[in-house]
Amino acid sequence: MVHPTDSPAGVQVHRGEVLHFLSDPGADAPAGSFEHFPDGVLIVRDGRIDAAGPADALLAKLPADTPITVHAGCILMPGFIDTHIHYPQLDVIASGGRELLDWLRDYTFPEERRFADFAHASAVAEIFLDELMRNGTTTALVFCTVHSPSVEAFFQAAQRRKLRMIAGKVLMDRNCPDYLAEPAPAGEQATRELIERWHGRERLSYAITPRFAPTSSDEQLASAGRLAREYPSTYIHSHLAENRNEIAWVSELFPQARTYLDVYDRFGLVRERSVYAHCLHMDAADRARMAEAGAAASFCPTSNLFLGSGLFDLAAADAARLRFALGTDVGGGTSFSLLRTMADAYKVAQLSGQRLAPLRAFYLATLGAARCLGLEERIGQFNPGAEADFIALDRRATPLIARRIEHARSLSEALLVLMTLGDERIVRGTWVLGRRLHGGDMGDRAQSSLRSHAAEKP
Ligand code: GUN
Ligand code: FE
Repeated sequence: MVHPTDSPAGVQVHRGEVLHFLSDPGADAPAGSFEHFPDGVLIVRDGRIDAAGPADALLAKLPADTPITVHAGCILMPGFIDTHIHYPQLDVIASGGRELLDWLRDYTFPEERRFADFAHASAVAEIFLDELMRNGTTTALVFCTVHSPSVEAFFQAAQRRKLRMIAGKVLMDRNCPDYLAEPAPAGEQATRELIERWHGRERLSYAITPRFAPTSSDEQLASAGRLAREYPSTYIHSHLAENRNEIAWVSELFPQARTYLDVYDRFGLVRERSVYAHCLHMDAADRARMAEAGAAASFCPTSNLFLGSGLFDLAAADAARLRFALGTDVGGGTSFSLLRTMADAYKVAQLSGQRLAPLRAFYLATLGAARCLGLEERIGQFNPGAEADFIALDRRATPLIARRIEHARSLSEALLVLMTLGDERIVRGTWVLGRRLHGGDMGDRAQSSLRSHAAEKP
C-alpha cells in the first residue's frame, strides 16, 4: 500500500495547481478567504507543511538538485474531512425503498450485530479505510457499533495508517433489538475504558456516541452527559432532527423537552465538539442554541435525499451563525465521495431557492469541517506546520471532465465541473503526513528535479 519510493522523512516538493482556504468564502469568495496558485508548490517537511505558494518564488529558494514531484493537470488541496459516517454500514450502502426508522430496523441493526466479532470488524475497517483513501478523505468522524471490539478494530486500523480519525462506541439501551441493547452502566463503563485507551493517542480522538435520543433512556443520556463533562476534550456525536416520524417519536418519549435538541441539551450534550448529523427540521431558537454552545451540524445531502428525510436549510444555518460541514452518512448516504456529497449539497440548495458556491463547497469539505471539529490548526489547510494530509485531483481524469473543464472561465467554474462530474476517479493520490496511501505509479513517472522543472510545468 505504501509506495516504496515515498520518503516521509525529510523534504518533499510537490508541484501542481495549489488551492486551500483561509476562511469561509461564503457566496462571493472575497480576497483573502482562499489561496490559489495555478503553478504552485507544496513543500512538505517531516510530514508537515513547510510552505505552499507560487512555484517560481518557492523553487528559487531550494537547492538545484531537490527532487520535485510534478502533478501535471492536478489540483493539490487538503484532504477531505467527512463529519459523519458509519463504518459498520459499509455493507448496507444502497439499501433503499425505506425511510429512516424502517431502514434502521430492516437493514442497519441486523448488519451492526456482526460487529461483535473483532475479526469481522477489522476486515470491514480495512476496506472502509481503503475506500476513504480512494475518495481522498483523510479524516472522518465515525460511528462504530455498540460493541467495544468494533471500536478497537477501527482505531487499530486507523493507527496503522497514521490517520487522524475520531470515533466512538454507540450507546443504546432501549428501542432497538435486544442483541444491540446494553444497560446504561455497562455502556458508560465500556466508553470510559475506550476513552482512557484511545482518546488523544497519536492522531486518534474519541467521540461519545449516543445513537439518537429514541434509543437511549434518560439514565443513559445522563450518563453520556457525565462522561462529556468528565472528559471535556472528547467529542459528542449523534443524530438530530433527521426525519418527521423520528421527531414525533422523540416528542412522545421526552414530553418535558421543548424540542429534539432540548433533549440533548438537558443532559449536557450540546457543547463545543458536539457534532449532530442532519439538523433538518429545527427552529431558529434551536439553531441559535447550537451556535451559542459551539456545537456543529453535519449536512448529509446524499443520505437526506436517499432516505427522503428533507432539505438542509443552509440560509437558516448561516443566519444563526451555526457552523456546519459535510457528511456522507454512509450507509444512509449513497457515496463515500465528498465530491458527490458536494454535488448533492449544491442541488439541495437549488431546490430550496438557495445557492452553494463551488468554492464554499470545497471549503466545507476541508477547512470548514476542520473548524467544526476544532482541528483547524492541524488539518484542512496548508499553513506552515499543518499536518501534510493532502490530495491531488485530476482535471483530466475522464475525457468528459477534461473537455468540459478546458473552457471553464474561472476557478469557481472549474470546481463546479469537478464536483458535479467528479468522484473517486479524479482522486489521483492521497497523502497522509506526507506519505502516499493512495495513487498509483505517478511518483516515479513524475519525478524530476529543479534543473528540469521549466520543461515540466503542470
Ligand atoms: N439515526 C439513528 N441511527 C441512524 C443511522 O444509523 N443512520 C442515520 N442516517 N440516521 C440514524
Ligand atoms: Fe448517520
